[in-house]
Amino acid sequence: MTAWSRGYVADSPYTASYHPAQVPAHLALAAAMNGVAWRPRERMTVADIGCGRGYVIAALAGANPGWTCLGIDYNPAHVSELSDFADAAGLDNLGVMEADLAALSDAEIDSLPPLDVAMLHGVWTWVSDAVREGIVRLLQRRLKPGGIVYIAYNALPGFGADAALQRVIRLGASMQVKGDSTERAQAALPLVRALHEASAVNLPKTPMLQHILREGEGINAAYLAHEMMTAHWRPVFFADMVEALAPARLDYVGSATLAENLPDMLLEPAQRAIWDDMPEGVARETIKDLFLQRPFRRDVFIRGARRIDRQEALDPIILAQVAHRPEGLPFLPTPRGKAELPKAATDPIMAALAQGPQRLGTLRALPERTLTPEEVLVMLDGTSTAMPIWRPAPDEATLRKARRFNAGAAAFHAAGGVGEERIAMASPLMGAGVPCTPLELTLASQPDIAEAPDAAVLLDRIRPGLEGEEREQAAGIIAHTIRERMPFWRRLGVA
Ligand SMILES: C[S@@+](CC[C@H](N)C(=O)[O-])C[C@H]1O[C@@H](n2cnc3c(N)ncnc32)[C@H](O)[C@@H]1O
Repeated sequence: MTAWSRGYVADSPYTASYHPAQVPAHLALAAAMNGVAWRPRERMTVADIGCGRGYVIAALAGANPGWTCLGIDYNPAHVSELSDFADAAGLDNLGVMEADLAALSDAEIDSLPPLDVAMLHGVWTWVSDAVREGIVRLLQRRLKPGGIVYIAYNALPGFGADAALQRVIRLGASMQVKGDSTERAQAALPLVRALHEASAVNLPKTPMLQHILREGEGINAAYLAHEMMTAHWRPVFFADMVEALAPARLDYVGSATLAENLPDMLLEPAQRAIWDDMPEGVARETIKDLFLQRPFRRDVFIRGARRIDRQEALDPIILAQVAHRPEGLPFLPTPRGKAELPKAATDPIMAALAQGPQRLGTLRALPERTLTPEEVLVMLDGTSTAMPIWRPAPDEATLRKARRFNAGAAAFHAAGGVGEERIAMASPLMGAGVPCTPLELTLASQPDIAEAPDAAVLLDRIRPGLEGEEREQAAGIIAHTIRERMPFWRRLGVA
């Protein structure tokens, strides 16, 4: 740990990745499903608090020139990288702030612009009480009435089972004298494996332990270090989160994991009966957390919930197809597994989307109303087959800005088009990112991509010097990627 880090891992950088569930266009879906009025506007201020390397907030700035975007983090390595990324991607609407949330004075907080949206992905359960208090003060003083908050964190009781695993990783790492946190987390893994093989009864085979055992040496150790090596890691119950946020005067909206807003899909009849008897809010969520394997919650709160009719909120949402129909669709992805849907209900929906973006109100009416609008949304968004667009006709400046971002992001984060990172390209129609691979970003951002240049020409440009079979294979992958993705890039204003 570095001297200034307050127990958080700061000697090795976090991964740079895009999380589609935290962006305003997606939060609008969670709000609509729960009958709360909220939608993005052309002009608003959006902050990513504890933004890490800042890919999400940068993509939002690139997709929405009218927004003032702000990335806050205390790790100078993250902050300086994000500043360079903002320059490379031409983001004059992204402010990058180096700040320790525990140490921000009220005057410093008050100098920030009032916030329409505050996003906190993977921060709360990893930081000390002092940092949590700083977060709440920031929300209390800067979130506008009507402002929306996304906060994603390790939740109890779901994540409680990993308490022993976290201790073992910290123990194993503490016995390594050399290396940064990432290297020491990696060095702790043989101890984890040895304990598991020797049937350590109090080291349960949780999804996290299964992930560690499955990935072996190939594990993303930077992620593991940030996830498990901080001194203050403490998962929390939903009720405690609500209490902690009370000074910011927030109302709970629902889950940004959309399927979790469908109790019919989540709960067995006996569970549902208990849930039905509970008052809305904290009690119902606490009960849900007892029934579901939910180690990570993605909560949406709002400062002042204005209730509206659900159907009225859902019907105007416009969805655009962003990927081919995944194998095995139709199904609803739920925390209890895949819920089968009748093909007769989903085929007309997919056929309509193939023609172009559609209103949810139109889609739900198609299969003779066998699916609720909430189910249509979860089926399409939950499988990343279609995503919301809230700016169907962007102006030329908005299109240019997104393309500039994509070219800058490709150069900065996707050199040569190689890598497995979960990044995204900015779509001016979605006002958000389309999740993609580094290769897809590199290809989509080629200035002449719409003219479908030859794959071999593109390969020589992106990765010169490949020869023989390797060259042939790489050109094949490029041709296939363009064939598959180009219709969506065109439709989303990317190419
Ligand atoms: C697990 S990372 C998540 C980063 C980012 N939200 C993401 O999902 O990619 C947590 C982030 O919180 C930041 N952080 C930790 N303590 C902080 C503090 N006291 N003040 C500001 N940022 C802090 C870390 O530097 C790190 O970037």
